Amino acid sequence: MATQSVLIDKSAPLVPSLNSRRVAILGFGTVGKSVARILSEGKLAGLELTQVFNRNVERKRVPWVNRDVQWTENIDDVLASDVEFVVEVMGGVEPAKQWVKSILESGRSVVTANKQLIARHGAELSEIAQEHDCQLLFGASVAGGVPVITALEHGLAGDELQSVCGILNGTCNYILSKMESGESFRLALEQAQQLGYAEADPTDDIAGYDTRAKLVILARVALRTEITLGEVVCQPISTVDPVDFEYARELGCTIRQIGHAELVADKCFAAVEPMLVPASSPLARAQGCENVVLAQGKFGGSTAFSGPGAGGDATAVAVISDLVALASASSAPVIREMRTLPVSNERMSPYFLRFVVRDRPGIVAAIAAALAKFEINVDAVFQKPGYDKARLPFVVTVERCSSKKLQAALDEIALCEFLVEPALKLPIFGH
Ligand SMILES: NC(=O)c1ccc[n+]([C@@H]2O[C@H](COP(=O)([O-])OP(=O)(O)OC[C@H]3O[C@@H](n4cnc5c(N)ncnc54)[C@H](OP(=O)(O)O)[C@@H]3O)[C@@H](O)[C@H]2O)c1
Repeated sequence: MATQSVLIDKSAPLVPSLNSRRVAILGFGTVGKSVARILSEGKLAGLELTQVFNRNVERKRVPWVNRDVQWTENIDDVLASDVEFVVEVMGGVEPAKQWVKSILESGRSVVTANKQLIARHGAELSEIAQEHDCQLLFGASVAGGVPVITALEHGLAGDELQSVCGILNGTCNYILSKMESGESFRLALEQAQQLGYAEADPTDDIAGYDTRAKLVILARVALRTEITLGEVVCQPISTVDPVDFEYARELGCTIRQIGHAELVADKCFAAVEPMLVPASSPLARAQGCENVVLAQGKFGGSTAFSGPGAGGDATAVAVISDLVALASASSAPVIREMRTLPVSNERMSPYFLRFVVRDRPGIVAAIAAALAKFEINVDAVFQKPGYDKARLPFVVTVERCSSKKLQAALDEIALCEFLVEPALKLPIFGH
């Protein structure tokens, strides 16, 4: 592989150097446009934008890119060109996968922000890159502008990471931080949609599927473990109610959607779910669209990364950083061995359980008896005054127990006629 440095020259003219590495962008949308803008500012001597590909490309043209840049809607123009690096920021799995594969097979490196592509086919595509002496970098695919992939892969390469978890979806975090101030889920979601943080169909975010794709990538990079999307259970945040935040506050906590992968014995635990997190944790401090990732190493302990998890410019920074890494690479990347472990969805944790009941004597005793049957110890019972007795919310916290046993107890409790809606169970983080 050729070696060459990228110099960040603040006074550099917009004239590309003769030795510049040529870059094509696939997809001129939010991220693609920001990548093009940074490249077009000409401050990165050594990287030169030469092609922009997009369907119906004429409507995408902007006057601020170099006039020598080729605008095309024919992918063969890119595949047959002399570009060295291709930035894939179209999104979607197909045709992105086929095109990225063809580019890697031609020995040219690819930088992508596409989490669905990398979560599903990252291992296969990385292997193709390795076989063809080029690289597939995907620093922008998790946590947008937070350089967490590079940090896990290189900055913490000296450690043996045991777990990785975090807030990986800005939309969910925006909604939950609004609910923390008393907003209903529905109103918080509407606000997120009005501000452009949430899609018209927010299912991917709310149900945890977006976080799940990022968790699969984090498990691969941090834990060197291949897990598949279907193996990760997801619990939606839509089951959380503002009253849960009131009770969480009594426990010194708040609620966040957490993606969590951890090596436990000879298995990999993986789940995406809303959890109680202590108010003192970096996870609790994440407000709005911020993302946070915590890595726990055998030797180095806990390391936190946080920052803007999305947005064209923040994500483009991660893409450009990968391009700089490619252009500056002085040797082939170190390939570390991957493992495939069975995935476990069973966790040991203390839990926060919220019940909504038609009040009558004996309810707490009935719940405690069902829990005791599965050897689960009640830690505390909380009941705030002022609620309608026909829809009374109250909370039971239980000591560390198996999630499977707890579900079995809740399945029994679900048969009780006093229950108005299914119980909400949230693991309590950090125990
Ligand atoms: N936006 C963010 O904050 C963010 C953060 C992290 C990662 N990402 C990832 O970055 C990627 C791009 O996201 P984005 O927000 O920039 O998306 P976007 O605004 O929808 O841009 C995608 C662009 O690619 C074009 N495109 C899509 N499919 C195509 C196809 N089959 N052939 C030709 N052109 C095609 C689209 O053209 P049309 O205009 O015709 O649709 C559009 O211009 C996604 O993988 C996303 O998950 C985004």
